[in-house]
This record gives sequence, structure tokens and C-alpha cells, in this order.
Amino acid sequence: MQLPTDLRTRLEALCSALPVKALQAADEAVRVRYRGDRGKLSNEQLQIQNEAEAIAYCATRFPATYGVAIKAAQEMTLQAPVTLLDIGAGPATATLALASMFDITHATLLEPNNHLRACGEKLLEVLPHNWVPHTFEQYKVDTQFDIVVASYMFNEAKSDFAKLWALTKQYLLIIEPGTPHGFSIIYTLREEARKQNISIIGPCSHTQACPLFTLNRWCHFSVRIDRTKLHRAIKDADLNYEDEKFSYLLLSKAPIVQEKYDRLIGHPRGTKLIEAELCTAEGRIEMAKIPKSHPKHKQFRKSAWGDRVNY
Ligand SMILES: C[S@@+](CC[C@H](N)C(=O)[O-])C[C@H]1O[C@@H](n2cnc3c(N)ncnc32)[C@H](O)[C@@H]1O
Repeated sequence: MQLPTDLRTRLEALCSALPVKALQAADEAVRVRYRGDRGKLSNEQLQIQNEAEAIAYCATRFPATYGVAIKAAQEMTLQAPVTLLDIGAGPATATLALASMFDITHATLLEPNNHLRACGEKLLEVLPHNWVPHTFEQYKVDTQFDIVVASYMFNEAKSDFAKLWALTKQYLLIIEPGTPHGFSIIYTLREEARKQNISIIGPCSHTQACPLFTLNRWCHFSVRIDRTKLHRAIKDADLNYEDEKFSYLLLSKAPIVQEKYDRLIGHPRGTKLIEAELCTAEGRIEMAKIPKSHPKHKQFRKSAWGDRVNY
């Protein structure tokens, strides 16, 4: 996945404000804080601390989280959202991704970090929007938004399903890193939704208890993202792409009846005999084996991790 040309141009202009060496040092500083004494640092100390760290975040993380938001929102076909609330918006990543898919007429971006807000302001350009410089905890529910999105945010702040749902008019989209911890946040929110019989658009093909959780596994997906030259320089990386792993939950306020489907929860393997792991419409994990003679062989050959299939 690549960023649209005009957005790539704006991102390059933003990142050219500082020399590569300064961005490398800033990226390293963030990494040391996260990997080193993370447990001993306060939430404030873990946040982006200056302009260089914010720009380094944009250079190295923006394309991946943008790509993930597009992938996670692609099944949101019920009703096109027009108003949007982006919680922990950072440099407006999810807002820009969703605005590229839908005719968003106004976005509200909740972001307490000045440095990330400044970057986001440079990337947003024409989309009508307002920034709210508050935390999620401080934000008061006084209006609803067609779509509420929180992307890579609740691993830094406590989630609150009741508040998220009160803010939502049509869709709620939560995205977290595709790690056991990221999935545990998604799982907890899904359990809240299940208790209230809320319609799940994705990734779940059912509303049963999560069968992967029961197996001590975590539900996650992957999207391949092109790395820019600057990204490779900052990370000292050779590969011109990265596979971003993510977990997500997409809920619909309007009750929906979906056609029965199974979800591919890994890359299908093989060519003649295809083996594909599924989370089925009945809420079971199954390894489907599809020989060349199987009527669904062609469908599975063309499908990828995360797709809906019918076995
Ligand atoms: C990893 S960044 C993700 C940014 C953006 N959503 C994205 O997908 O690129 C996490 C963001 O959450 C924000 N954040 C952290 N704690 C928050 C809180 N309590 N309320 C609102 N935002 C918060 C941070 O300032 C940061 O912008």
C-alpha cells in the first residue's frame, strides 16, 4: 500500500524540516524510552517530547497506521459517514485515511500532544476540522459522530466502552497493534459489545466468544506498506516494504444482519492443495483443506489473510 501522491508530497515536505540525522536521533530516543525503562516511566514521559520526535513518528509510523486504517475500515459499507471523531489522533493519520474513503465533511481530532497536532495540521490541509487539545478522559460527551475512531491509542490510555459508544452515531472503529497486548484491548471492548448484542462488522464473522482467545492466541491481520527512502534511512533498513500487524474491531450502531461468511485468519498456503485457517461463521477455528477439484479452489487461490470467504 502506498500513500496518495498529494499526501506523500505533504508528508515529505513536513519531514524535510529537519536533517535525517536529527530524525534518526529522535527515533532512537523514542525507542530507548519504549524498550528500556518503560515500566518506570510515566505516561507523559512516554509521549512524544519535541518536534523532532513528532516528525520522526510521521516519517516512520504514519504510512503504516494510515494503511491499517484503510484496511480496517473497508467493510464499512452500510452507510457513508460524514462526521468523524478521531481519538488520540496523532498527526491525523486515521482521519486522513477515512477521509480518502468517504466524503467526510467535518473531523474533530482529539489530541493532547502539541507536537503531533502541529504535524497533523500540516498534513490535513483542506479537510474542514477542529482540534481538541484534551485527553479522552477529559473529553465530555455532548455530541455524536457518524464514525468514532481510535487508532493505536488505547495501549497508551485506558479505554471506556460506554463513553466510546455514547459518542458513536453509526460506526466505532478501534485499532491496536497486532500483538497479544493490542489484542487484549480489542478483546475487552468486544466482550462489552457482545454483552449488549451490538452488531460487529469486523473482523468477527460471528458473535460467539472469541475462539482464538480461548486457545490463548491473538486475532490479528497484516498489511504490506511501502517504505519511503527517508523511512529506510531513519531505520537503517534495506527492505522497501514492511508488514504492519494490527488487531481491530469495527462495530455498527444500526443492527445488521450479515451474510454468512468465514474469515481468513492467516495467509492461505499451497497452490494445488490450499490450506487456509478460518474463523468460521459458527465461531470455530478450522484449517480448511481445499484441493484443486474443490469448487471454491479459485476463490481461495485469489484470497488473502483477512478476507471474507465461504468455505
Ligand atoms: C501511537 S499514537 C497514534 C496516533 C494516531 N492515532 C495514529 O494512528 O497514527 C498514540 C496517540 O494517542 C495520544 N494519546 C495518548 N494518551 C491519550 C489520552 N489519554 N487521550 C487522548 N489521546 C491520547 C498520543 O498523544 C498519541 O498521539
